[in-house]
Amino acid sequence: MKHIVSGIQPTGSLNLGTYLGSIRNFVKLQDTFPEHHFMLFIADLHAITIPRDRLELRKTIRELAALYLACGLRQERLSLFIQSEIPAHSQVAHLLQCFTYIGELERMTQFKEKARRQETGVSAALFTYPVLMAGDILLYDAEYVPVGEDQTQHLELTRDIAERVNSRLGAVFTVPKLLTPKVGARIMSLTEPAQKMSKSDPNEKSRILLLDPEPVIRKRIMSAVTDSDTHVRFDKENKPGISNLLAILSALTDIPIETLEQQHAHSTYATFKQHVADTVVEALRPIQARYQALIQDPELDAFLDAGRDYAAKVAMRKVAKLNHKLGLGRKG
Ligand code: AMP
Ligand code: TRP
Repeated sequence: MKHIVSGIQPTGSLNLGTYLGSIRNFVKLQDTFPEHHFMLFIADLHAITIPRDRLELRKTIRELAALYLACGLRQERLSLFIQSEIPAHSQVAHLLQCFTYIGELERMTQFKEKARRQETGVSAALFTYPVLMAGDILLYDAEYVPVGEDQTQHLELTRDIAERVNSRLGAVFTVPKLLTPKVGARIMSLTEPAQKMSKSDPNEKSRILLLDPEPVIRKRIMSAVTDSDTHVRFDKENKPGISNLLAILSALTDIPIETLEQQHAHSTYATFKQHVADTVVEALRPIQARYQALIQDPELDAFLDAGRDYAAKVAMRKVAKLNHKLGLGRKG
């Protein structure tokens, strides 16, 4: 079975950036790759590389599971699971650390950024986070990994590790390929459009959460930072705010940015923003309705159980193969 694998950390509520850069892409990919099995997981082991409140974490894990499905993923050819329920993720992380150099991890820009923001000590797990991620992907022989642009470096490292293991031990892993969406790969903050929209931004106005009520969504978009020009034109460098709103609109409607520019050639910023706000509200309305139904449905747990069982079987086989190739334990 060919696999497409991706994960999202259960940290904070999902925002429009994660939706457009990641989840919406999975939904489309289910059509693009009708032969592949999709393995999507909630990366809770990744989340705890930074201290978390346990009750908050547990709540977010369930919320994320419901949201994944509410966003329109079809349940056939899909395994949705929680990373920590599969012990093989932790096991393979150690094995892969034996194939990763400190220098490689020191070059990871996300580690440097997160370490800089950490007020208390930086955990060793934050440093080895990319190796855990490599394991998530390699355990399932993922052919493709759909992620936002910020994960490119981690995926490159995953490929390097896979190739290194294969060249030392013989063919063990499939070397995965990155799949980033054409638009939406990097949705920017609404208040500081030079930075990506992020769940960790202390300013709540910088983002739209998928579960935000309609008036909040409208207010955030109408007050999004733009520029003093008056033309709705895509120019990331000089007009990052307007370009970001165009990217959001394009990603949600599948209308190319050039067409949107033409449609809004004579619009004021206020009219344009109104259109963006209407589009976001309409796109999120059905997701929010499905979410409310799913979050209380025992079927959600049944689906997560099935996902766990499938993932565990595939992952266990891979760890056994790797153990064997490394000469660990007894020959069995
Ligand atoms: P995270 O929430 O950091 O676990 O990221 C989950 C997925 O969403 C990853 O594939 C990220 O690349 C993607 N992502 C996060 N923030 C954004 C953003 N502002 N724009 C586009 N994609 C994003
Ligand atoms: N590191 C990813 C992020 O922050 C989440 C993630 C963990 C992931 N493991 C993965 C994504 C495996 C794709 C495949 O966005």
